[in-house]
Amino acid sequence: MRPSARCCFLAILSFGGSLLFAQKPSPSANLALTPPMGWNSWNKFGCNVSEDMIKGMADAMVKSGMKDAGYQYVVIDDCWQVSRDRDGNIVADPQRFPSGIKALADYVHLLGLKFGIYSDAGSKTCAGRPGGLGHEYQDALKYASWGVDYLKYDWCNTTSQDARASYANMRNALDASGRPIVLSICEWGTAKPWLWGKEVGGNLWRTTGDIQDRFSGKKEWEPGNCCNFGVTAILDAEDEIYSYAGPGHWNDPDMLEVGNGGMTDTEYRSHFSFWALLAAPLIAGDDLRDMKPEIHDILTNKEVIAIDQDPLGRQGRRVWKDGDLEVWSKPLSGGRRAVILFNRGESEKQITAKWTDLDYPESLSVSVRDLWQKKDLGKAAGKFSAPVAPHAVIMVTLAP
Ligand code: GLA
Repeated sequence: MRPSARCCFLAILSFGGSLLFAQKPSPSANLALTPPMGWNSWNKFGCNVSEDMIKGMADAMVKSGMKDAGYQYVVIDDCWQVSRDRDGNIVADPQRFPSGIKALADYVHLLGLKFGIYSDAGSKTCAGRPGGLGHEYQDALKYASWGVDYLKYDWCNTTSQDARASYANMRNALDASGRPIVLSICEWGTAKPWLWGKEVGGNLWRTTGDIQDRFSGKKEWEPGNCCNFGVTAILDAEDEIYSYAGPGHWNDPDMLEVGNGGMTDTEYRSHFSFWALLAAPLIAGDDLRDMKPEIHDILTNKEVIAIDQDPLGRQGRRVWKDGDLEVWSKPLSGGRRAVILFNRGESEKQITAKWTDLDYPESLSVSVRDLWQKKDLGKAAGKFSAPVAPHAVIMVTLAP
């Protein structure tokens, strides 16, 4: 870690005529100690963003109980920006955001929520709007003056830029504004951000191309341009990098598709369970103003959210696999484990989690609780076994 970049600002003080050097903690020092939770416009609305829609979503986050369940950041993704003025200041779309971004951030803050925005490290965003390149410090000051709490920073149109240097530069710019701002690195895993994201002050980093609202598979956007990812394809990419996540710095398997219509409720329950087990940022991506009860109940399952938000901050991983059948485990505070029995196949199967695969002594007796049935299942020793429906999970906690 480079102290001048991450931990502290060097402040120069004058004392009795001599100069003293003092270290001031960086404003971003204690951000995202558990994975950020919130909502983002992209998965459902793409470029169709406006202040009315974002306000409606913030209202719905409160009314639906999502705020109570821990969701906090309301993030506008691409397409809020249209140009730069002659001084280089970024300009929001005057038709879609007639009151300006500051007024919108104020509205979100009044609801007790936090406000996030999107830009790009290159010359243009992925949707072709003005990017941040060459304007990093100017944009950071503007965001801070608007009350931005979270910046998703994308990677389109970056030509020969170095990813690590570009994101370090933006983190330094954000810190220089004096405002604590979460930095969401959205570089799709190309330059392995899990290896350097923490050191440059990233709080989360995307690990793959964009999620698509489907259960499995990887698809090229067009021939030669890889790929968008279904849920299980992302899972496979996340497993091997589990050790890089921790408090303040998380692997980001992309935003949730829960409720967007492309999967069954069972598949959405699996998607949400896994994001919690992976200690992933839980950024909902559906229309919160119009959720069917089954979707609401998935997104607000507090026991599953508690797995994601466990203070130990460990990412879970796959501990056993046989064909379509898998066992995943996440160490929790207090010596507990979250365990998922997962069936990728097309017919119901019995799946067993063995203590020897969970780093538990075989003789250990634990209390088992099913987090979707919300039911205590009694004591178990040595193993836990259950039938699992196609594409479904059984998610339990084991407490010694
Ligand atoms: C990229 C990102 C997406 C979204 C779009 C916006 O594809 O990975 O999450 O932000 O850009 O254009």
